[in-house]
Amino acid sequence: MQPHNVSFPVSRLRRLRQNAQIRSLISENTLQISDLIWPLFVCKGNNIKEKISTMEGVFRLSIDNLIIEAKEAISLGINCIALFPSIEQSLKSFDCEEAYNPNNLINTATKAVKDACPDLLIMLDVALDPYNITGHDGLFKDNEIINDETVKVLTLQALIQAESGADILGPSDMMDGRIKSIRSALESEGYHNKMIMSYSAKYASTLYAPFRDALSGKPNLKGDKKTYQMDPANTDEALRNVARDIQEGADMVIIKPGAPYLDVCYRIKENFGIPTFAYQVSGEYSMIMTSIQNGWLGHDEAILESLLCFKRAGCDGVLTYFAPMAAKALLK
Ligand code: PBG
Repeated sequence: MQPHNVSFPVSRLRRLRQNAQIRSLISENTLQISDLIWPLFVCKGNNIKEKISTMEGVFRLSIDNLIIEAKEAISLGINCIALFPSIEQSLKSFDCEEAYNPNNLINTATKAVKDACPDLLIMLDVALDPYNITGHDGLFKDNEIINDETVKVLTLQALIQAESGADILGPSDMMDGRIKSIRSALESEGYHNKMIMSYSAKYASTLYAPFRDALSGKPNLKGDKKTYQMDPANTDEALRNVARDIQEGADMVIIKPGAPYLDVCYRIKENFGIPTFAYQVSGEYSMIMTSIQNGWLGHDEAILESLLCFKRAGCDGVLTYFAPMAAKALLK
């Protein structure tokens, strides 16, 4: 700890801020391109790059265009992309069978990207919302999200994603017992090296609104997700979720949303020392991006500061739609 009995002018804390060289020599945290995971939205079709009205600068991409972005990720030094499918309304159902169709959009996209870019890590969301007519992450029956039946479907979905070539599975559904079930299925099918990055502390946040728009373009969600996603008032509960998920077989954990929950990131890293990631979600992206677009915040400065803060809070990396922009800023 710092001696507190050194007083001015013996101590002048500004001495170590006087120029860029000394500031950089003593900096406690650094943001690196290798810390970034880039989430991308996939849609069906050819040569499609469709604007998402609530997320300026983010697009729904058909697989051919997705491959171009995957190659861009590699050339920028980004090691991992996370893919999310925009599923047409006619394929959504109450049972969510499309989630475990081996030839669905996300599995087809994963195979195509793996073929084109074998060294790029691919992370897939394990959750039913893109396929669910109700917009929920779990099966909806009798006005309830039913846990154990959902876990069975999630496990099928995860196995098929693993088979398609996904390296990292990201269960983001917040059902109880899903990590245990997915891990045991992966082990028994011989997928010993598939990694699980569990969304262990996922809050029922209003900041996901642009993402839901990006996925479906129209509001499907019935009610809210408060019976399975966490109450933004709680942190001890996040620690219990993480402890449970580690025990059940998670290799890494995610806190989501990101910046408003840095205290949660800090406590999780302090308590468990496990690889810890934050998801700077769509609402955070859009708040910053809107300000940048209006000229209220500086482009590179706002992006890099927003991401560096995750490192200071103890995160090992960040899922962020800013990934390519941040990488370009870091390369300058
Ligand atoms: C759903 C999922 C959500 C996000 C990632 N996976 C939304 C939700 O829980 O409703 C949000 C990401 C973002 O807002 O950027 N499984």
